[in-house]
Amino acid sequence: MQTNLIHVVGNRPQFIKLAVLYKALSANAALRQMIIHTGQHHTEEMSGIFFQHLDIPTPDVQLSLQHASGNIFKAQATDALVNIFQQQPTNTIVLTYGDTNTTMAGALAAKQAGLRLLHFEGGVRTGHTTMPEEINRIITDRLSDAIYCCTQLNYQNLLDEGYGAVIPAEIFLTGDLMYDAFLRIPPADAKPPATDYVACTIHRAGNITTPWLLKNIVDALNVIHKEIEVVMPVHPHTRKRLREFGISAQFTQVPPLGYAEMKSFLQGSAYVITDSGGASREAYFSKKRSLIIMDSPFWPEIIKAGTAVNTEPDTKKILDGFAALPTLPPNFDTPIFGKGDAAEQIARHIQTFI
Ligand code: UD1
Repeated sequence: MQTNLIHVVGNRPQFIKLAVLYKALSANAALRQMIIHTGQHHTEEMSGIFFQHLDIPTPDVQLSLQHASGNIFKAQATDALVNIFQQQPTNTIVLTYGDTNTTMAGALAAKQAGLRLLHFEGGVRTGHTTMPEEINRIITDRLSDAIYCCTQLNYQNLLDEGYGAVIPAEIFLTGDLMYDAFLRIPPADAKPPATDYVACTIHRAGNITTPWLLKNIVDALNVIHKEIEVVMPVHPHTRKRLREFGISAQFTQVPPLGYAEMKSFLQGSAYVITDSGGASREAYFSKKRSLIIMDSPFWPEIIKAGTAVNTEPDTKKILDGFAALPTLPPNFDTPIFGKGDAAEQIARHIQTFI
């Protein structure tokens, strides 16, 4: 008899991780994989193109919820997922990815329905429990039966909190599915750029929901743009806030990019400025020095390697941080995110788990 494995996804970076793991697991005839899309990212540019371009099967269940606020979304998604999970056989396994509202809703619902829970990208900690992502990761890790870690630091964080000992979850250092994806999915064919540019993404709630913080960032990017072109694929959340706050961005803005386009966009850039956990890793994979606009970056390992600096959203500090980038050593050889075989390692563990 097959065991059900339900992937719960809803956000752009989760679709990328799902693409790699789904393929690795499809060789296992003992598993029946199911995809539930919470609809957190719901537009063609944020969701549809990832399923199409990365060859991910159409979700078995597509939720359609209101997006009134993160908390309402989490409550509605949890409720909807509990209803679906309760109809599944009791040996069903639920797999959640990362640290988004979708991740936490999947975790809460799996446990409420009495199902086993796996979490990929566990053990990330910034110590800032006011960030929605930090809350999501602590709760999801704590509820999980098995946790897969991208880096040694993440694994150590879990050991330090008593995982694998007083907390009886299994923990594994597997490396990063995002790195697997980066090695396996080719970049889009792109014309080499005529001039140097900075690849920039900004969408973190902490940076864009307070008008003066978003203005601080935009003011700095406008100044940098006079020296070297700044190109930003604009996340819908950021687009909405720029309009709402009447902040004038003078750098180049383009629509959100698909995975392969984003990869060639990063690879063709001179530097990266970002507040994204995903793009900061992809900058490292692409061997690009980066400025991370976060007080406490999700991946301090990159800062420690010396290839990135981080700053709070302060105009002068961003300009100073950017000015320091050319002096950073191009030390991209530390295998922080594993060997590119995270999907196979997770697939092997899931086999023993069933
Ligand atoms: C979420 C995650 C963040 C992750 C990011 C990846 C949480 C708490 N945050 O942030 O950790 O790095 O996804 O991109 O889960 N919107 C659209 N169309 C869409 C999606 C969003 O218009 O397809 C708009 C909506 O107005 C929505 C807002 O963007 O309310 C914010 O989106 P949301 O998914 O809540 O958070 P992100 O900023 O994307």
